[in-house]
Amino acid sequence: MVTIIEKASGLNCEYVIEKAAHILANGGLVAFPTETVYGLGANAFNPDAARKIYEAKGRPSDNPLIIHISGMDMLEDVCGSVSQRARELAERFWPGPLTMILPKGGKIPYAATGGLDTVAVRFPSHKTARGLIDKCGFPLAAPSANSSGKPSPTRASHVAFDLSGKIDMIIDGGPCEIGLESTIVDMTGEEPVILRPGYVSGEEITGCAETAVVFDGEPEIPISPGTKYTHYSPRASVTVVLGEPDAVAGKIRELIAGAESAGKKAGALVTEETRHLYEEGHIISVGSAAEMESIARNLFKALRKADFYGLDALFSVGFEETGLGAAVMNRLVKAAGNKVIRV
Ligand code: TXA
Ligand code: MG
Repeated sequence: MVTIIEKASGLNCEYVIEKAAHILANGGLVAFPTETVYGLGANAFNPDAARKIYEAKGRPSDNPLIIHISGMDMLEDVCGSVSQRARELAERFWPGPLTMILPKGGKIPYAATGGLDTVAVRFPSHKTARGLIDKCGFPLAAPSANSSGKPSPTRASHVAFDLSGKIDMIIDGGPCEIGLESTIVDMTGEEPVILRPGYVSGEEITGCAETAVVFDGEPEIPISPGTKYTHYSPRASVTVVLGEPDAVAGKIRELIAGAESAGKKAGALVTEETRHLYEEGHIISVGSAAEMESIARNLFKALRKADFYGLDALFSVGFEETGLGAAVMNRLVKAAGNKVIRV
């Protein structure tokens, strides 16, 4: 299969969206930009199209997809009853980087929910994403448009690297603004439960930090099936080092030297503020720690850079787990397969 790549900008936008909608209506796969990361879209009502997503990504079929809508009128086709509390959250955060788990509606096939009776729903704010769903007239099932286990794509080139030849089309809408996937909140129980931290914080969702329950365990049946799989990993083995910047730099320099003497190619994932503590040639800067938004925006690109440089080992600084830092650390620690050292 040849993957068409089209830039969605200016006058071209309408034509690109029309072409993509035509492919989607015929059961094809189209990657499209959202404000969080690129999604790999298929007609959410078409079980065969949903199956194609799993095949292209190499994704286990029990890991459900997020259903993307472009208006509240689409909600009734996607889910069953929506609680008052869920409606309030929708009012406040949609369109935007929030996904809600709700009871599944009859029109969504089990092929898209990994057999679950619940469904993840998101109303993205990105203009192209909304324009595309509007044009289709049906919701789009769309996971992040990466190969399963790899860092999520924040640029069209990332999607092309992972999925070229496996999907029909990529809409290039430039870099994603937020760069981390949406916050996922389970709204099917008594209290909202945060299943995946993101740009919208738990505190914003519950209005109170104490009642924000963050799911952070490995029960026998994981609440969010995606949490049991390896995630965000470049080919290099990733280790996160936590502590004061000087001590962290000392430890990372030592770890790099050790890796190199074992014949490995090693590098450091650092911030603009700390890069002077490291030797040139080893550095991948992820942004300024003073502006957590920039770290979030650049994290997945930085992890992909490690692959581009052919690194065997990547040693990363850590971040304070408050606000957006919690979402960044969630992805980084997963990329590291929980290898975290404190100095
Ligand atoms: O920002 C985002 O959310 C991006 C863009 C494309 O919208 N999408 C995204 O999708 O990150 P994905 O498939 O990479 O991650 C979806 C997560 C998975 O961990 C999955 O297990 C969980 O959502 N999920 C989906 N449906 C669920 C459900 N019914 N119950 C619990 N978790 C669910
Ligand atoms: Mg994903």
